[in-house]
Amino acid sequence: MISTPRIVGHRGAKANAPENTLAAFRRAHAEGATWVEFDAKLTKEGAVVIIHDELLDRTTNGKGPVAAHTLAEIRALDAGSWFGPAFAGERVPTLEEALALFLELGMGFNIEVKPCPGREAETARACCAVLERAWPKSAPAPVLSSFKRAALEAAREAAPAIARGYLAEELGKSWRAEVEALGCVAVHPGWKRLTRQQVRDIKEAGLRALVWTVNEPERARELVAWGVDSIITDAPGLIGGALAP
Ligand code: G3P
Ligand code: MG
Repeated sequence: MISTPRIVGHRGAKANAPENTLAAFRRAHAEGATWVEFDAKLTKEGAVVIIHDELLDRTTNGKGPVAAHTLAEIRALDAGSWFGPAFAGERVPTLEEALALFLELGMGFNIEVKPCPGREAETARACCAVLERAWPKSAPAPVLSSFKRAALEAAREAAPAIARGYLAEELGKSWRAEVEALGCVAVHPGWKRLTRQQVRDIKEAGLRALVWTVNEPERARELVAWGVDSIITDAPGLIGGALAP
Protein backbone atom coordinates (compact mmCIF):
# COMPACT_ATOMS: atom_id res chain seq x y z
CA MET A 1 0.00 0.00 0.00
CA ILE A 2 1.29 3.43 -0.90
CA SER A 3 1.27 6.21 1.61
CA THR A 4 -0.20 9.61 0.75
CA PRO A 5 -0.58 12.50 3.19
CA ARG A 6 -3.87 14.09 4.27
CA ILE A 7 -3.13 17.24 2.27
CA VAL A 8 -1.87 17.42 -1.31
CA GLY A 9 -1.38 20.88 -2.81
CA HIS A 10 -3.20 21.18 -6.16
CA ARG A 11 -0.93 22.44 -8.95
CA GLY A 12 1.26 23.42 -6.01
CA ALA A 13 -0.83 25.94 -4.14
CA LYS A 14 -3.02 27.25 -6.95
CA ALA A 15 -4.95 29.68 -4.74
CA ASN A 16 -1.87 31.61 -3.69
CA ALA A 17 0.76 31.25 -6.41
CA PRO A 18 0.87 30.74 -10.18
CA GLU A 19 -0.19 27.11 -10.69
CA ASN A 20 2.35 24.47 -11.69
CA THR A 21 5.41 26.65 -11.09
CA LEU A 22 8.31 26.16 -8.68
CA ALA A 23 6.95 29.16 -6.75
CA ALA A 24 3.66 27.29 -6.30
CA PHE A 25 5.45 24.20 -5.03
CA ARG A 26 7.48 26.32 -2.59
CA ARG A 27 4.29 28.03 -1.49
CA ALA A 28 2.61 24.66 -0.84
CA HIS A 29 5.59 23.66 1.27
CA ALA A 30 5.46 26.96 3.18
CA GLU A 31 1.75 26.32 3.86
CA GLY A 32 2.62 22.97 5.42
CA ALA A 33 1.93 20.59 2.53
CA THR A 34 4.29 17.63 2.21
CA TRP A 35 2.96 16.62 -1.22
CA VAL A 36 1.84 18.41 -4.36
CA GLU A 37 -0.13 17.43 -7.43
CA PHE A 38 0.92 18.81 -10.82
CA ASP A 39 0.15 18.30 -14.54
CA ALA A 40 2.70 16.94 -17.00
CA LYS A 41 2.67 17.17 -20.79
CA LEU A 42 5.11 17.14 -23.68
CA THR A 43 6.79 19.87 -25.67
CA LYS A 44 7.10 19.59 -29.44
CA GLU A 45 10.26 17.49 -29.18
CA GLY A 46 8.96 15.35 -26.31
CA ALA A 47 10.41 16.97 -23.18
CA VAL A 48 8.19 16.77 -20.09
CA VAL A 49 7.02 20.16 -18.80
CA ILE A 50 4.60 21.06 -16.04
CA ILE A 51 1.56 22.90 -17.33
CA HIS A 52 -2.18 22.25 -17.21
CA ASP A 53 -3.72 23.55 -20.42
CA GLU A 54 -3.11 22.42 -23.98
CA LEU A 55 -2.58 26.08 -24.82
CA LEU A 56 0.09 28.34 -23.40
CA ASP A 57 -2.26 31.31 -23.34
CA ARG A 58 -3.87 31.23 -19.88
CA THR A 59 -0.83 30.62 -17.69
CA THR A 60 2.05 32.15 -19.67
CA ASN A 61 2.73 35.13 -21.91
CA GLY A 62 2.96 32.73 -24.87
CA LYS A 63 0.31 31.71 -27.36
CA GLY A 64 -0.79 28.50 -29.00
CA PRO A 65 -0.44 24.80 -28.25
CA VAL A 66 2.24 23.52 -25.87
CA ALA A 67 2.76 20.65 -28.33
CA ALA A 68 3.67 23.08 -31.11
CA HIS A 69 6.51 24.71 -29.13
CA THR A 70 10.01 23.53 -28.34
CA LEU A 71 11.36 23.33 -24.83
CA ALA A 72 13.59 26.34 -25.51
CA GLU A 73 10.59 28.38 -26.67
CA ILE A 74 8.52 27.41 -23.65
CA ARG A 75 11.37 28.04 -21.22
CA ALA A 76 11.66 31.59 -22.53
CA LEU A 77 8.10 32.38 -21.42
CA ASP A 78 6.92 34.07 -18.24
CA ALA A 79 4.58 31.78 -16.28
CA GLY A 80 4.16 34.02 -13.25
CA SER A 81 3.19 37.57 -14.26
CA TRP A 82 -0.39 36.60 -15.17
CA PHE A 83 -0.92 35.73 -11.50
CA GLY A 84 0.78 38.78 -10.03
CA PRO A 85 3.83 41.02 -10.50
CA ALA A 86 5.58 39.39 -7.52
CA PHE A 87 5.83 36.22 -9.61
CA ALA A 88 7.29 37.79 -12.75
CA GLY A 89 10.00 35.60 -14.25
CA GLU A 90 8.61 32.25 -13.05
CA ARG A 91 9.17 29.65 -15.75
CA VAL A 92 7.22 26.63 -16.92
CA PRO A 93 9.17 23.97 -15.00
CA THR A 94 10.64 20.87 -16.52
CA LEU A 95 9.83 17.67 -14.67
CA GLU A 96 13.53 17.27 -13.75
CA GLU A 97 13.63 20.72 -12.25
CA ALA A 98 10.52 20.06 -10.15
CA LEU A 99 11.93 16.75 -8.91
CA ALA A 100 15.13 18.47 -7.82
CA LEU A 101 13.09 20.97 -5.82
CA PHE A 102 11.01 18.23 -4.18
CA LEU A 103 14.19 16.47 -3.12
CA GLU A 104 15.55 19.72 -1.69
CA LEU A 105 12.31 20.36 0.23
CA GLY A 106 11.74 16.73 1.21
CA MET A 107 8.39 16.63 -0.58
CA GLY A 108 6.45 13.90 -2.32
CA PHE A 109 4.13 14.26 -5.30
CA ASN A 110 1.27 13.07 -7.46
CA ILE A 111 2.20 13.48 -11.11
CA GLU A 112 -0.88 13.78 -13.29
CA VAL A 113 -0.09 12.71 -16.85
CA LYS A 114 -2.12 15.19 -18.89
CA PRO A 115 -1.35 14.38 -22.51
CA CYS A 116 -2.20 16.43 -25.55
CA PRO A 117 -4.62 14.43 -27.73
CA GLY A 118 -2.92 11.49 -29.43
CA ARG A 119 0.18 11.60 -27.19
CA GLU A 120 -1.22 9.56 -24.28
CA ALA A 121 1.24 6.65 -24.31
CA GLU A 122 4.20 8.79 -25.35
CA THR A 123 3.60 11.25 -22.50
CA ALA A 124 3.28 8.51 -19.90
CA ARG A 125 6.45 6.82 -21.13
CA ALA A 126 8.40 10.08 -21.07
CA CYS A 127 7.23 10.83 -17.51
CA CYS A 128 8.19 7.35 -16.35
CA ALA A 129 11.63 7.65 -17.94
CA VAL A 130 12.34 10.90 -16.09
CA LEU A 131 11.05 9.50 -12.81
CA GLU A 132 13.19 6.41 -13.13
CA ARG A 133 16.23 8.50 -13.93
CA ALA A 134 15.82 11.41 -11.55
CA TRP A 135 13.74 10.27 -8.57
CA PRO A 136 15.67 8.13 -6.08
CA LYS A 137 14.08 4.94 -4.82
CA SER A 138 14.83 6.11 -1.27
CA ALA A 139 12.60 9.20 -1.67
CA PRO A 140 8.82 9.07 -1.01
CA ALA A 141 7.14 6.86 -3.64
CA PRO A 142 5.03 9.03 -5.98
CA VAL A 143 1.62 8.35 -7.50
CA LEU A 144 1.20 8.71 -11.26
CA SER A 145 -2.42 9.45 -12.18
CA SER A 146 -4.31 10.19 -15.37
CA PHE A 147 -7.80 10.58 -16.78
CA LYS A 148 -6.48 8.81 -19.88
CA ARG A 149 -6.62 5.04 -19.69
CA ALA A 150 -4.06 4.72 -22.51
CA ALA A 151 -1.60 6.73 -20.41
CA LEU A 152 -2.09 4.48 -17.39
CA GLU A 153 -1.64 1.38 -19.55
CA ALA A 154 1.57 2.77 -21.03
CA ALA A 155 2.88 3.67 -17.56
CA ARG A 156 2.11 0.19 -16.36
CA GLU A 157 4.12 -1.26 -19.20
CA ALA A 158 7.02 1.17 -18.95
CA ALA A 159 7.41 1.31 -15.16
CA PRO A 160 5.12 -1.16 -13.40
CA ALA A 161 6.60 -0.34 -9.99
CA ILE A 162 5.37 3.28 -10.07
CA ALA A 163 2.01 3.41 -8.26
CA ARG A 164 -0.88 4.38 -10.51
CA GLY A 165 -3.96 6.44 -9.67
CA TYR A 166 -7.28 6.22 -11.52
CA LEU A 167 -8.55 9.75 -12.14
CA ALA A 168 -12.22 10.39 -12.83
CA GLU A 169 -14.54 13.37 -12.71
CA GLU A 170 -17.19 10.92 -11.55
CA LEU A 171 -16.96 7.22 -10.76
CA GLY A 172 -19.04 5.32 -13.31
CA LYS A 173 -20.48 1.84 -12.95
CA SER A 174 -17.35 0.13 -14.22
CA TRP A 175 -14.78 1.97 -12.12
CA ARG A 176 -13.79 -1.06 -10.07
CA ALA A 177 -13.20 -3.26 -13.09
CA GLU A 178 -11.18 -0.52 -14.77
CA VAL A 179 -9.08 0.12 -11.67
CA GLU A 180 -8.34 -3.56 -11.44
CA ALA A 181 -7.57 -3.94 -15.14
CA LEU A 182 -5.15 -1.00 -14.99
CA GLY A 183 -3.55 -2.23 -11.78
CA CYS A 184 -4.18 1.06 -10.01
CA VAL A 185 -3.65 1.31 -6.26
CA ALA A 186 -5.37 4.68 -5.82
CA VAL A 187 -8.65 6.23 -6.95
CA HIS A 188 -8.82 10.01 -7.55
CA PRO A 189 -12.44 11.09 -7.95
CA GLY A 190 -13.77 14.62 -8.14
CA TRP A 191 -15.63 15.51 -4.93
CA LYS A 192 -18.80 16.88 -6.48
CA ARG A 193 -20.49 13.61 -7.39
CA LEU A 194 -18.68 11.34 -4.95
CA THR A 195 -20.85 9.41 -2.49
CA ARG A 196 -20.11 8.05 0.95
CA GLN A 197 -20.79 4.55 -0.35
CA GLN A 198 -18.23 4.95 -3.12
CA VAL A 199 -15.60 5.96 -0.56
CA ARG A 200 -16.52 2.84 1.45
CA ASP A 201 -16.16 0.74 -1.68
CA ILE A 202 -12.76 2.25 -2.49
CA LYS A 203 -11.49 1.55 1.00
CA GLU A 204 -12.97 -1.95 1.12
CA ALA A 205 -11.16 -2.72 -2.12
CA GLY A 206 -7.90 -1.83 -0.33
CA LEU A 207 -7.30 1.27 -2.46
CA ARG A 208 -6.16 4.75 -1.54
CA ALA A 209 -8.72 7.56 -1.97
CA LEU A 210 -7.42 10.98 -3.11
CA VAL A 211 -10.21 13.47 -3.77
CA TRP A 212 -9.97 16.77 -5.70
CA THR A 213 -10.29 19.77 -5.70
CA VAL A 214 -11.58 20.56 -2.24
CA ASN A 215 -11.26 24.16 -1.10
CA GLU A 216 -14.00 24.38 1.53
CA PRO A 217 -13.10 23.35 5.09
CA GLU A 218 -16.57 21.90 5.79
CA ARG A 219 -16.48 19.70 2.73
CA ALA A 220 -12.93 18.54 3.52
CA ARG A 221 -13.96 17.56 7.06
CA GLU A 222 -16.92 15.60 5.72
CA LEU A 223 -14.82 13.73 3.16
CA VAL A 224 -12.26 12.78 5.78
CA ALA A 225 -15.10 11.56 8.02
CA TRP A 226 -16.21 9.37 5.09
CA GLY A 227 -12.77 7.76 5.02
CA VAL A 228 -11.01 9.71 2.26
CA ASP A 229 -7.23 9.47 2.71
CA SER A 230 -6.01 12.58 0.91
CA ILE A 231 -7.53 15.92 0.01
CA ILE A 232 -6.14 17.62 -3.09
CA THR A 233 -6.62 21.34 -2.54
CA ASP A 234 -5.70 24.71 -4.03
CA ALA A 235 -5.28 26.06 -0.48
CA PRO A 236 -3.21 23.58 1.52
CA GLY A 237 -2.73 25.95 4.47
CA LEU A 238 -6.43 26.67 4.86
CA ILE A 239 -7.60 23.08 4.46
CA GLY A 240 -4.69 21.64 6.45
CA GLY A 241 -5.53 24.02 9.28
CA ALA A 242 -9.20 23.06 9.16
CA LEU A 243 -8.35 19.37 9.39
CA ALA A 244 -5.74 19.71 12.13
CA PRO A 245 -6.66 17.69 15.21
O1 G3P B 1 -5.40 15.44 -10.19
C1 G3P B 1 -6.54 16.08 -9.74
C2 G3P B 1 -6.94 17.24 -10.62
O2 G3P B 1 -5.82 18.01 -10.89
C3 G3P B 1 -7.56 16.79 -11.91
O3 G3P B 1 -8.09 17.83 -12.67
O4 G3P B 1 -8.02 19.53 -14.44
O5 G3P B 1 -7.26 20.10 -12.15
O6 G3P B 1 -5.90 18.64 -13.61
P1 G3P B 1 -7.28 19.07 -13.24
MG1 MG C 1 -4.27 18.00 -12.33
